[in-house]
Amino acid sequence: MANQPTILVIGGGLAGLSASHTALDHGARVVLLDKKPNLGGNSVKASSGINGANTEAQKKHGISDSVQLFYNDTETSAGTLSRPNLIQALTANSAGALTWLTTQFKIDLSLVSRLGGHSVPRTHRGTGGAPGWAMTSALIKKLQEVESSQFNRVRVRQGAKVIRLLEDGSGKIVGAEYENEEGRYEERADAVIIATGGYAADFSDHGYLSKYRPDLFAFPTASGDHATGDGLLLATSLQKPAALLDIEKIQVHPTGFVDPKSPMAKTKFLAAEALRGAGAILINGSGERFVNELERRDVVSGKMHEVIKAGEAPIRLILNEESSAALKTHCDFYLAKGLMKRYDSGEEFAIEAKLPLENLRNTFGSHTMYGEGKATDPLGKTYFDNSWYSVEKPVLVAEITPVLHYTMGGISVDSSARVLDSQGVPISGLYAAGEVIGGVHVRNRLGGSSLLEAVVFGRIAGETAASL
Ligand SMILES: Cc1cc2nc3c(=O)[nH]c(=O)nc-3n(C[C@H](O)[C@H](O)[C@H](O)COP(=O)(O)OP(=O)(O)OC[C@H]3O[C@@H](n4cnc5c(N)ncnc54)[C@H](O)[C@@H]3O)c2cc1C
Ligand SMILES: *[C@@H]1O[C@H](CO)[C@@H](O)[C@H](O)[C@H]1NC(C)=O
Ligand SMILES: *[C@@H]1O[C@H](CO)[C@@H](O)[C@H](O)[C@H]1NC(C)=O
Repeated sequence: MANQPTILVIGGGLAGLSASHTALDHGARVVLLDKKPNLGGNSVKASSGINGANTEAQKKHGISDSVQLFYNDTETSAGTLSRPNLIQALTANSAGALTWLTTQFKIDLSLVSRLGGHSVPRTHRGTGGAPGWAMTSALIKKLQEVESSQFNRVRVRQGAKVIRLLEDGSGKIVGAEYENEEGRYEERADAVIIATGGYAADFSDHGYLSKYRPDLFAFPTASGDHATGDGLLLATSLQKPAALLDIEKIQVHPTGFVDPKSPMAKTKFLAAEALRGAGAILINGSGERFVNELERRDVVSGKMHEVIKAGEAPIRLILNEESSAALKTHCDFYLAKGLMKRYDSGEEFAIEAKLPLENLRNTFGSHTMYGEGKATDPLGKTYFDNSWYSVEKPVLVAEITPVLHYTMGGISVDSSARVLDSQGVPISGLYAAGEVIGGVHVRNRLGGSSLLEAVVFGRIAGETAASL
C-alpha cells in the first residue's frame, strides 16, 4: 500500500473515532464522514460505562477479575451460537482499550460497577457526566486538534451521508460516494472502515426492523435516528456482498423512561442500567417485585413483557436515597427532565400512585432483609448494594417500559475487523467496527460491552487498515 495510506472512516461514533485515531497513530491519513451535523452517534448517549477485565481501576477497588471470567460471562450471555474468536478479541483487548482511553485521552474511568450478567463489577465510568459523552468528546477534541495543527492528516466532514462504496474491477474497495447539501461526491481511499452503528431506529417500511423483526416494529427506541443500518446496506450492495450475522437479534432494554409529558413518544430516554447496579428495584402495578433486577437484559425485559401482557403495568423503577446518591449526576438530570420524581417518603408515593401501601411496605421490608442476608430472595438476587428500603424514607420513582436498544446483528468480520463475504473470504480494503458488526454478542449483549466493542474493534480496524 501507499507510503501514507488514506483511510476513509464512515461514521464518527466511538468506533469510527477509535479507528481514526489508531489509523493516524499508524501513519495513515484519515477522512472521516458522518451524515449528521454532529459527531458522536449513539456513543454520546451511553450512560452506564465500558467493560474491562483486569484493569487498573478494578485492582484499586480490590476486584479480582480475569479475561477468562469475562470471556465466560460473554459466552454464557451469547448462548449456543457464540463465536470464540470474536469474544476472545473483545475480552482479551479490554484492559488495553481502557488504558488507551485513560492515558492517551485522559478520560476518567475510575469507578467500577456491576451490571447484569457479569460475575464481578467491571463496568467503568468516571466521576463526572455520562461516560459516553466523556469518551466521545475527548476523542473528537483530539481529532480536531490534529486536523487543525497537522497539514493534510485528517479531514472531518459532517452532514456527509455515504450512499455507496466504490469498487475496482477486482472487487477491492477503493472509496465511497457521499451526498451532502451541495451534491454528490466521490472520496477515494486505500481502505474503508464502516462504523455506522446499528439499526435500532430503522422504522422505514422496508427496513431491517420491518423485515427481520416485525414483532418489535411498534416498540419505542432509545437509539438516535441515525441508526438505520446504513452500513449493512452499503456492505451488502457490493458485487460480492458482505455476509450478515444474527440480523434478527435485537436487544430490548428493560428501562426506557416513560415521560409523563409524552407517554407515547417513539424515542425514549434510557434509564441507565447502572441504576439497578446501584440498588434500584422494579415493581409492578401493585407495588411488588417480579424479577431479579440484576438479571441479564433479555431476562428482565422478558419478565416485564409478562407483567405488561397480564395487565399489571405500570412498571416502576424505585431508588432509595443511597442508590440515588451513588448516581447523583444521572439522577439530577433525570429529575430535571421530569423523567423521575422524588417523594419525601414511600408512603407519599403509594398514595399518589394509588397502590396498596401494605404491598410496598412488604416489598421494601423483604428487600432489606435479603440485602442483610437474613432471608433469601425468591427471585434470585444475590448481589446487593444500597438494599435498605423503607416506606418512611424518601424515594425516587420513574415509570419505565422496554425499548429497542442495541442490534446484535450486523456485518460479518474476522478478529482483524476484516469484512467477510458469504464464503468467509475477506473483502479487500473493507473493514468494520462497532455496533455495525454482527456476531460478537449473538443472543444478548452484556451492558458495557458495546462501548468496548466500539473501541476494541475500532482500534483493530484502524491498525489493520493502516498497516497493510
Ligand atoms: C441511550 C443509550 C445508552 C447506552 N449506554 C451504553 C453503555 O452505557 N455502555 C455500552 O457499552 N453501550 C451503551 N449503549 C450502546 C452504545 O452506545 C452503542 O452501541 C455504541 O456507542 C455504538 O458505537 P458506534 O460507534 O458503533 O455507533 P454510533 O455511536 O451510533 O455512531 C455511528 C455514526 O455513524 C454515522 N452514520 C450512520 N450512517 C451513516 C452514513 N450512511 N454515512 C455517514 N455517517 C453515517 C451516524 O451519524 C453516527 O454518528 C447505549 C446506547 C444508547 C442508545
Ligand atoms: C470458564 O469456563 C471454563 C469452561 O466451562 C471453565 O473450565 C473455567 O474454569 C472457567 N473460568 C473461569 C475463570 O470462570
Ligand atoms: C404483581 O406481582 C406479584 C408478584 O409477582 C403478583 O403476585 C401480582 O399479581 C402482581 N399484581 C399486579 C396487579 O401487578
